[in-house]
Amino acid sequence: MTKALLIGDEAPNFTAITTEGEIEFHKAIEGKWAVLFSHPKNYTPVCTTELGYTSKLKPEFDKRGVVVFGLSVDKIEDHAGWAADIEDTQGSALNFPLIADDSSIANLYGMIHPNANDTMTVRSVFVIGPDKKIKLSLQYPASTGRNFDEIIRVIDSLQLTANHQVATPVNWKDGEDVIIVPAVSNEAAKEKFPDGWNEVRPYLRIVPQPGK
Ligand code: BEZ
Repeated sequence: MTKALLIGDEAPNFTAITTEGEIEFHKAIEGKWAVLFSHPKNYTPVCTTELGYTSKLKPEFDKRGVVVFGLSVDKIEDHAGWAADIEDTQGSALNFPLIADDSSIANLYGMIHPNANDTMTVRSVFVIGPDKKIKLSLQYPASTGRNFDEIIRVIDSLQLTANHQVATPVNWKDGEDVIIVPAVSNEAAKEKFPDGWNEVRPYLRIVPQPGK
């Protein structure tokens, strides 16, 4: 059994055929944030809604410099027909590469859970940083559509941490206050946050969201 990929692991490289041509994954994501998500099968209802909604979110992903890849264990010819259905039924044409997998990538990323189904993937999501390391992974059952607004929210949080050394509190939403990460000393925080912070506890230092 392959070892599960964990946060901090390098996202494995692979080559694949997609609806937008052949890719080598590491080249395709070079220097960028990326989302790789699997859906159980083409021509299934929940997946149809997810891919339509993710296409609608493309401007939001673009704004954050994120490239998105969908994956299912289906043939490339089948992807084309399904893409037409997505456009017809969801009001948004597929606008990111959909990988046609023969299950080798799904196995590499642990997207097939034999206790759930031998061949269909669960709903996995990997958010990958510009360093090609996994920053988030989640797995949903086949019957529950994911919340892609939440994926955007996590990316915002991850990018705030990467760029400003702040963390985000429970149920944080874009524009709300954030927390100075514990690794930043008060000395260093004075330089980074010259307007100061609200020290609720020495370990809980609140500042307005940088860049807002
Ligand atoms: C779906 O994608 O709609 C789906 C797939 C497997 C089980 C239930 C729903």
